[in-house]
Amino acid sequence: MLDVLRYEGKRVVVTGCASGMGAATAKILSEVGAQVVGLDVKEAKDIAEFIQIDLRSKASIEEAVAKIGGPVDAVFSVAGLPGPPFSDVDTVLVNFVGARHLIESLVPVMPAGSAVVCVASNAGLGWQQNLEVLMEVVSTVGFDAGLAWCEANPDKIVGGYAPSKQLTNAWVAFRAVDLIKKGIRLNCTNPGPTDTAMMGDFEKQAGKELIDAFVGPSGRRSTPEEQAWPLIFLNSPRSSYVSGEALHTDAGFLGAMVTGRL
Ligand SMILES: NC(=O)c1ccc[n+]([C@@H]2O[C@H](COP(=O)([O-])OP(=O)(O)OC[C@H]3O[C@@H](n4cnc5c(N)ncnc54)[C@H](O)[C@@H]3O)[C@@H](O)[C@H]2O)c1
Repeated sequence: MLDVLRYEGKRVVVTGCASGMGAATAKILSEVGAQVVGLDVKEAKDIAEFIQIDLRSKASIEEAVAKIGGPVDAVFSVAGLPGPPFSDVDTVLVNFVGARHLIESLVPVMPAGSAVVCVASNAGLGWQQNLEVLMEVVSTVGFDAGLAWCEANPDKIVGGYAPSKQLTNAWVAFRAVDLIKKGIRLNCTNPGPTDTAMMGDFEKQAGKELIDAFVGPSGRRSTPEEQAWPLIFLNSPRSSYVSGEALHTDAGFLGAMVTGRL
């Protein structure tokens, strides 16, 4: 395949590679010539290099970082928990605190021109209105400080999932400012409902009707591949002037909301 997105020979790290969007991302990246290092708490098949990681654990993250070594040209931070039945703290640890610790620990081995993309969610819409609380966590440094804030503020992370995705959006906007000065770009996507293993938990929590309402004008859920390609686009050197961006991969849901079409 013509190397349009310039991944040939690039060393990339994909979290959540065992399932859903992460598995789709890892597969496409290997097809476009990248050397994929896949991370997940669950064993993953068909990954060139797989490293087990538990994003709830600082020690596990640091062990994985040591095994990854360097250089790393791109990080795809895709792993996530859906909230209940998982605890609020575990959900925020996997979706934000642990994900951030992994990324920050890899920054020293990322050369100028490299990039990071995180998967947030439309469940985090409205994060700009909650910035005062979000900045309390975003401005913490390191895993332990993030965990301590979560444990001290259970009332501010109720449900786990939406707060964790608001945090991702806020952190990307905030931290991209520093990373671009090192030549490292940082972006996120905000997917709409996507057919993956997590969907069953969302339907149990919120009911199928509400999840279907979030589908918006397209009238359908996305596939994991439809979420993987925008991630691959954002981390491609072809997107070299895109940073601090939250891309809504929701087939027009947000636009329809904002303009009163939904
Ligand atoms: N499916 C949706 O509708 C939807 C919508 C918006 C955003 N998202 C987000 O997309 C991302 C990918 O989720 P998905 O939909 O592909 O679901 P998925 O359940 O198929 O994949 C999630 C992956 O994260 C891994 N994971 C869970 N806990 C972990 C831990 N402690 N350490 C390391 N890995 C862990 C799981 O093992 C799994 O492989 C998540 O961040 C999710 O929040 C999903």
